[in-house]
Amino acid sequence: MDHYRLFGYPLGHSLSPRIYQLFSEQTQQPLIYDTNEVTADAFPEAIRRFFNDGGQGANVTAPLKGIAAQWADRLTPAAQLGSVNMLIRLPDGQILGDNSDGFGLINDLQRQQLLTSGARLLLLGAGGAARGLLPQLLATQPAEIVLLNRTESTAVALAEACCSLGSIRVASLQQLPSGPFDLVIQATSVRHQIAFQSMMSTLPWPMAACYDLNYSSTASLTPFLQWAGQQGATQLVDGLGMLVEQAAYAFNCWRQVTPSVDTVLSILRQELACRH
Ligand code: ATR
Repeated sequence: MDHYRLFGYPLGHSLSPRIYQLFSEQTQQPLIYDTNEVTADAFPEAIRRFFNDGGQGANVTAPLKGIAAQWADRLTPAAQLGSVNMLIRLPDGQILGDNSDGFGLINDLQRQQLLTSGARLLLLGAGGAARGLLPQLLATQPAEIVLLNRTESTAVALAEACCSLGSIRVASLQQLPSGPFDLVIQATSVRHQIAFQSMMSTLPWPMAACYDLNYSSTASLTPFLQWAGQQGATQLVDGLGMLVEQAAYAFNCWRQVTPSVDTVLSILRQELACRH
């Protein structure tokens, strides 16, 4: 049976195996999808062994997306900034690195009607997650994307890497950009409300729609969305839809079959609602 695997660290809460199981059942495509919790040091050897042993494709999550980009034989345009979240074995045996995060995010934003043309977007974070999203986010031609990151120099380097793709600017924590923004996208690895308070202690503009790339392992809001709600944000959306969308993109690349995202999303929401 064809074998697929998710690599990352940590992976304890990952919903990916469940998502691919539901896709597999829905499309009657039998496959194995498992996980390998592996540190950055051990990842190159682990991924090499997986493909040598006949693995057909892999997903990659934090903190391994940059290493996966270096390891792949070739990269798609979506992975051009050096962030890979999926690897595909090509017919000639080469491994192609791709990134489906931007595709997943944009599809989910469209489903939630959060992506308007000419929007001003604030993107929090400049790590592997932000790097993976930006090519496709800029391709939607927003009026502007403002990057805000704890370490300003990282944001400056990322903005420079993608300035040819669209309008992008870096804000500093000392001088937050003038708002308002149509959408705030949370793409850091922060898991505590307190970090957001210290990152954006006094907001000079009202919070509007907020999208967190993270999702909660229960029906409760993520820490960022809880904090954004307390600041008066009106629309609070987590990244579960993006997770299922980006998985559907990978499934389609690997199996040439498109699963129904809405069906799987509603099953997962029901399952999460039963957790406490
Ligand atoms: P990776 O880059 O390892 O793939 P990521 O999920 O993209 O991981 O998350 C890293 C991002 O979270 C970075 O933008 C990081 O900011 P720095 O560049 O300053 O390190 C951000 N981040 C992590 N911990 C943070 C914290 N406590 N407060 C603010 N930002 C934080």
